[in-house]
Amino acid sequence: MQLKDSFNRTIDYIRIGVTDRCNLRCFYCMPKEGIPYEPKADLLSYEEIIRLLDVLGNLGFKKVRFTGGEPFLRKDFITLLEKTHQLSHYKEIRITTNGTLMTQHIPKLKELGIDTINLSLDTLDAERFKEITRRDDFSKVINAFHTLLDEGFTLKINAVVMNGINTEDILPLVALAEEHPVSIRFIEEMPFNGGYKENDTKFNATDIFDTIKNKYASLSAKTGKHGDTATNYTIDGFKGEVGIIAAFSRTFCNTCNRLRITPKGDIKTCLYDGGTFSIRDFIRSGVTDEQIANKFIELIKLKPENGFVAEKGIEKSLVRGESMSTIGG
Ligand code: 5AD
Ligand code: SF4
Repeated sequence: MQLKDSFNRTIDYIRIGVTDRCNLRCFYCMPKEGIPYEPKADLLSYEEIIRLLDVLGNLGFKKVRFTGGEPFLRKDFITLLEKTHQLSHYKEIRITTNGTLMTQHIPKLKELGIDTINLSLDTLDAERFKEITRRDDFSKVINAFHTLLDEGFTLKINAVVMNGINTEDILPLVALAEEHPVSIRFIEEMPFNGGYKENDTKFNATDIFDTIKNKYASLSAKTGKHGDTATNYTIDGFKGEVGIIAAFSRTFCNTCNRLRITPKGDIKTCLYDGGTFSIRDFIRSGVTDEQIANKFIELIKLKPENGFVAEKGIEKSLVRGESMSTIGG
């Protein structure tokens, strides 16, 4: 079966934030003292996540991404991956990670057929990495990068582009894709930083494009796939490719295929909505799988047309005060 929302979009991709905790403090995501974490009992348990994934799988969901916070920070995260693998609904099990805690788990990921990793890395300069993440872990991330490539993983790098902070890192990051078969994706900065700073997305997708095109005239767009948020580009002679994600300009909403569940079990039908429904409280009230399925169907019908409509529905400060870590990147 295929689930359609009110705008005829097929919704078959679930993103789950498994923890709101993180060992880094990227300043576009959190204030330096971190965010108040949820008590662990308020997070969805692995049993609850697997139950939800099973219900969604039966509703036609085919892809799941685990995010955070930092997913490898949650105890026994590998167990969750194993159980998800056993469900057999999901052709694609994906992870977004900061790469600092994962190298030891790479053999297990391979065994589970998890062959694609999204690694957050905003600069190739160790000092700037420290300024951005407020932690001195650059070498760990680079180590993860090389190990994943050596082990044959499909690797995507997520780099948030911040005006006046790391715009000069764009070209060095692009150059990584010349030598390595990686996809370097530049993401417009979004306002989800825990509410401590105004967001000024003054360096948008067009600026990123122009910066790259200026140096690499052969930069050319590829045709998109179902649910792509990135516009991907090839460059002549490159082993890898480049992507641009207009996360703030929101130019991709018309092909959105996703639903989010936050670490504490709020369903978000759009990144920019306020968190619509506590599926955690719903399942803890003793409902059947059928009732859960019907709830998902109902919520998906309420998915807003785009991120601007979603944001209009709620008080701006409410959404914008959130951190990507509580939303689930
Ligand atoms: N704007 C854009 N992207 C962000 N991420 C975290 N916070 C923001 C933000 N304010 C990205 C991280 C990670 C992904 C999960 O979300 O870099 O790659
Ligand atoms: Fe952690 Fe990712 Fe947020 Fe950085 S962006 S603090 S790595 S969750």
